[in-house]
Amino acid sequence: MTSRDSPTARGLNSRALDYTASIAFDRRLYRHDIAASMAHARMLASQGIIPGVDAEAIVRGLEEIRAEIERGEFAFRHEMEDIHLNIEARLKEKIGEAAGRLHTARSRNDQIATDMRLYVMEACDDAASGIKAVQTALLALAEANRDVIMPGYTHLQRAQPLLLAHHLLAYFEMLERDKERFADCRRRADALPLGSGALAGVPYPIERESVARELGFSRLAGNSVDAVADRDFVVEFQAAAAMTMMHLSRLAEEIVLWASDEFGFIGLPEEFATGSSIMPQKRNPDVAELARGKTGRVYGNLMAMLTILKGLPLAYNRDLQEDKQPLFDTVDTVMATLEVMAAMLSALRVDPLLAEAAAQGSYVLATDVADYLVRKGVAFRDAHQAVSELVRHAQLEGKALCELSLEEYRSYSAAFEEDVLSLDLRSAIEARDAPGGTSPRQVEAALKRAHERLEGKR
Ligand code: ARG
Repeated sequence: MTSRDSPTARGLNSRALDYTASIAFDRRLYRHDIAASMAHARMLASQGIIPGVDAEAIVRGLEEIRAEIERGEFAFRHEMEDIHLNIEARLKEKIGEAAGRLHTARSRNDQIATDMRLYVMEACDDAASGIKAVQTALLALAEANRDVIMPGYTHLQRAQPLLLAHHLLAYFEMLERDKERFADCRRRADALPLGSGALAGVPYPIERESVARELGFSRLAGNSVDAVADRDFVVEFQAAAAMTMMHLSRLAEEIVLWASDEFGFIGLPEEFATGSSIMPQKRNPDVAELARGKTGRVYGNLMAMLTILKGLPLAYNRDLQEDKQPLFDTVDTVMATLEVMAAMLSALRVDPLLAEAAAQGSYVLATDVADYLVRKGVAFRDAHQAVSELVRHAQLEGKALCELSLEEYRSYSAAFEEDVLSLDLRSAIEARDAPGGTSPRQVEAALKRAHERLEGKR
């Protein structure tokens, strides 16, 4: 038996203590833990369960402890395991025996469930503001470049012309759904576990409504067993964050592509481009690449949480302590990614000429040429066939569609007339004027709607 195997002050083998202690990471919950304890103490006093003077001492002591933690003066003690016991031990040092009354009608099981719900509700609000900042930056970029034309892609092949603003607003929509998912997660997290005790409820005349009100919960968890065992709200947060990161990673990927010489649609500002230690010409999009890469760890955190919960018997099990590090990591990652993406988007420069040139020097008008034939009375299938042969011819000749002569057009369909030569990117874009399309009129309306949504008018 080495010294490491001898029991610690609290009687726990020191390896077991190291293995089970969570204070290194759950200290992040100190504000939520203290707020919940204050509300609990006040309720115990007003219900006559503990003396009012003790509750006052408890609340005052907790206020001082919060200040100590915030000043960085609190000595977190590893042997006290977790944030709950650390705070309670310090409270005892400060106010003596009255501290022992705080844990009446409560268990660490309903306590941690309460702390986690408070934390997740706050994180949902933070995520929503972070998303809003990215949406604001996207909207500004779209508005500053409202006339810019680019090729839209399918299969990463140039497909049809688009307004760049329309393409950017696609991300605005995705992020709008993400915000809804966080709001929805928050609604389900919003139920007070305190009062559930260890699992079966408590044998004291407690009153849960005022505790809920003081902590900002709008309802009570309805079943004590579920209340201490449930971490669905953590899974939901992880899932909403994973989806948000997935969207940001698609945006990041397009930034990587667009900043390449092959595309050249955007220039990465100096402050968001990193150099290479060996290749002097490089301006690497590392921020976007890391946003893409960090999506992987957020997916991993979601999978970790689902796996922790799988097959767990009711009610509380210590496995649940493993919910914290992945959650905190996800919160940090998604918040940092939202912040840096908003900043980078605000600094991006669009190159309108290169974006339009990519559309111009391609066959993105092929659909419009087929639609032209349809307007001249040709059946769509026949028109599609004629234009696909026409495009093959142009490709073999190394010509863009706009470089073909009327004679060349007419050798693929007699329905072509002089006016086919006036088909251009802008007319193709203007023609797509059905709701949700890329016409300038529709995009203006979409920009306006986006503003209204950000201002909460929708
Ligand atoms: N550190 C624990 C957790 O995070 C707190 C609850 C501990 N409860 C218990 N009965 N040991 O889940």
